[in-house]
Amino acid sequence: MTTLIINIKELLQIREIGVAKISGAAMGILPTIKNAYLIIKDNLIADFGSMDILPKTKADQTIDATGKIILPSWCDSHTHIVYAGNREQEFVDRINGMSYEEIANRGGGILNSAKNLNDATEEEIYNQSKVRLEEVMRLGTGAVEIKSGYGLTIDGELKMLRVIKQLAQNYPISIKATFLGAHAIPLAYKEDRKGYIDMIINHMLPEISKNSLAQFIDVFCETGYFTVEETEEIMNAGIHFGLKPKIHVNQFNSIGGIQAGIKHNALSVDHLEVMTPEDIEALKNTNTMPVALPSCSYFLSIPYTPARAMIAAGLPLALATDYNPGSTPSGNMNFVVATACIKMKMTPEEAINAATINGAYAMGISDTHGSITIGKKANFIITKPIPSYYQLPYAFGSNLIDRIFLEGKIIT
Ligand code: NIG
Ligand code: FE
Repeated sequence: MTTLIINIKELLQIREIGVAKISGAAMGILPTIKNAYLIIKDNLIADFGSMDILPKTKADQTIDATGKIILPSWCDSHTHIVYAGNREQEFVDRINGMSYEEIANRGGGILNSAKNLNDATEEEIYNQSKVRLEEVMRLGTGAVEIKSGYGLTIDGELKMLRVIKQLAQNYPISIKATFLGAHAIPLAYKEDRKGYIDMIINHMLPEISKNSLAQFIDVFCETGYFTVEETEEIMNAGIHFGLKPKIHVNQFNSIGGIQAGIKHNALSVDHLEVMTPEDIEALKNTNTMPVALPSCSYFLSIPYTPARAMIAAGLPLALATDYNPGSTPSGNMNFVVATACIKMKMTPEEAINAATINGAYAMGISDTHGSITIGKKANFIITKPIPSYYQLPYAFGSNLIDRIFLEGKIIT
């Protein structure tokens, strides 16, 4: 099946085959074609160019996109979409003055979600999570990473990863799974953290590997959660089972997690709300993508990742949602892009690069996703008629999406 889309006001994020990520000053450049056409064949991008050179193609379907802009689907490289229940009460408790840390210390937070998860059946978790997945697809996300980490028991972690696998099989959105058994020390192991880490390494990981349930390994490297030493031990074990590290670091404290991630060739280091000059220096000339989560900063009222300093240092940067019940109950990449512009002073070009091609890199899929490139997946957003792509972050509360294509098919 061939679809021809014509009269596109502007086609964004045109990249040559082989461009994996964008760094430093280049992030400020977003290659586009004005007055363009786009041809898709089956699930792939087959051709594109200026309307002046529109080839005489027979198409099964032609779409007139006069006044509209097309950009690749968002690539959300950090989420915890699979969970059970919610944490609305903790949200209200924080409004009334409690901190995220105080709530965690009284046994709430991640442990609260772990209780909900372990009490729920696999079917209940699937049904609750698919609603969120369908929602983010309608918001323009075409590829998403989903973490475990609310089980904190063998059964719970495996249950979460099986739900992720089932979602991946049933939906056209690309899904990567990350094992985050080291999200918190569960209550049962409060006095025996070594025992829990041994269980992750000797029992959870072999089972996950045997059933091919994850591609990545994650650890919440943070004061009160997992130390740098423990993070290294868990990353090493994950690597042994073929999982590449993507880790939570520098959310509240800079304790050396970035350096540990780089040492183990992490695909990404995520959060980065608290960054020292040494942390920025360490990321230079590495293969590790820094990932910022501005809607988490927004929801928890914590600092935003210092994007300007990082881009000025020549680093790449990716943007993701962190969609989870505690720190970011939102999976809206449009809001993330707008918040990065408004609060982190990223330009629209930088934010779109960060939310597409660099997000794809942070999931290891930039050869198939994240740009308008011949041979990549036909995953893209057609906007409503808008004056320019500046409108995407500018009109931060509006839904500017007209249609979504995933794998070459319209999503309704
Ligand atoms: O990325 N920081 C660690 N994990 C999640 C939040 C976990 C939770 O509060 O449920 C995050 O923000
Ligand atoms: Fe997270």
